[in-house]
Amino acid sequence: MEIAYLIDASSLLLRWLHLIVGIAWIGASFYFVWLDNSIKPPTDPKLKEDGVGGELWAMHGGGFYNPQKYAVAPKKLPDELHFFFWPSYTTWISGILLMSVLYYFQAATYMVDPAISAITPAQSVGIGLATLVIGWVVYDLLARLLIERSQLSFAVIYTAFVTLVSWALCHLLAGRAAYIHVGAMIATTMSANVFFWIIPAQRRQVAAMKLGEAVDPALGRRAKQRSYHNNYLTLPVLFSMISNHYAATYNHAWNWVVLVLLMAGSVLVRHFFNLRHFGITRWEFPIAGMAIILGVLVWIAPIPTRATAGQPVPSLAEVTSIVTARCAGCHAEHPSIMPVAQMGVMLDTPARVKQYAQRIHERAVQLKNMPLANMTGMTDAERSLIGHWYAAGAK
Ligand code: HEC
Repeated sequence: MEIAYLIDASSLLLRWLHLIVGIAWIGASFYFVWLDNSIKPPTDPKLKEDGVGGELWAMHGGGFYNPQKYAVAPKKLPDELHFFFWPSYTTWISGILLMSVLYYFQAATYMVDPAISAITPAQSVGIGLATLVIGWVVYDLLARLLIERSQLSFAVIYTAFVTLVSWALCHLLAGRAAYIHVGAMIATTMSANVFFWIIPAQRRQVAAMKLGEAVDPALGRRAKQRSYHNNYLTLPVLFSMISNHYAATYNHAWNWVVLVLLMAGSVLVRHFFNLRHFGITRWEFPIAGMAIILGVLVWIAPIPTRATAGQPVPSLAEVTSIVTARCAGCHAEHPSIMPVAQMGVMLDTPARVKQYAQRIHERAVQLKNMPLANMTGMTDAERSLIGHWYAAGAK
């Protein structure tokens, strides 16, 4: 088995696992925030006497459910008590492994872009890992200082910090690596919130109950605030995780601004849902969020290549010889650089070049993110020749 295939196969398994546990984690986050915001004070005097602060009724899968939330804690510790941490930890662990397989083991290809900065692959990995740690330290400091005082000033300062990181990484790493690292930094912070704050607070609450002491309500309150932050951060992280499919975003000259705006737009959408669970409907939030997201997508649309009159139109044979020289090493039935045709795209015969004309044009002329890391040394003249051919109808 070739090493390249081993990388492919392990990334398949890790990505699959990462998605499964990520869904479990984010699903629980959505559910519990919905639950928290939707419960109403109980009317039954017995529940009130037991210390229940809110409850609701729901149906799912043909069953009636009646979750109840205690204002601080129940009078007696139940025999069985579920904590939710494995989905968070396994999402983080599988994510780090996946990032190592995809980015760190192939840093020269995926982390470094000589057109952006002159760092070595080893330095790029160092920068990537340091970002995860710095991201947590700064977040935690800001949260300690501001979380009890003003959520709004926390949000503003943290957004400014993420913007700074986005700017720095987009000027150091290849665009796709910068994007995934901003997301990984935020996601690491979310897991660290669970590991360093939420779960320890819960353990202290349980320990106090076992000793028969009063439970400090601040423990639950602080854990909840961090849990809320995590909830708001889910949508930005999810965008960053899928961003490597969208070269028009991470390859843009202003890619760091594009990333921050798309993330900010998604937070506004999340805010709408969190308010709505309380029964407050504020359409201005998702409208503003979607306006930002759609506005960015319109702004970054690649400029169409126009046919230039008077110039001879390149022939399919000319274009095919360029494409087979520059692209077929990774995109052919039996490619020479990679073990299999990347993304199943084959660019090794005139018929296939014609078939894929639109995508060749998109990647090689408009986005210029193919050939990958320009490993095969495609020239600007070749790109514009393909552009002319495409604009003249790709015949
Ligand atoms: C060194 C290897 C390599 C070379 C050379 C290369 N590619 Fe790729 N190509 C990849 C990899 C890896 C992917 C998948 C990652 C991605 O989408 O960015 C890919 C993806 C693509 C896709 C996207 C397929 C999809 O379904 O999204 C297109 C289109 C493409 N390449 C076109 C080209 C063209 C055109 C050239 C030549 C100008 C080229 N590639 C040269 C490695 C390469």
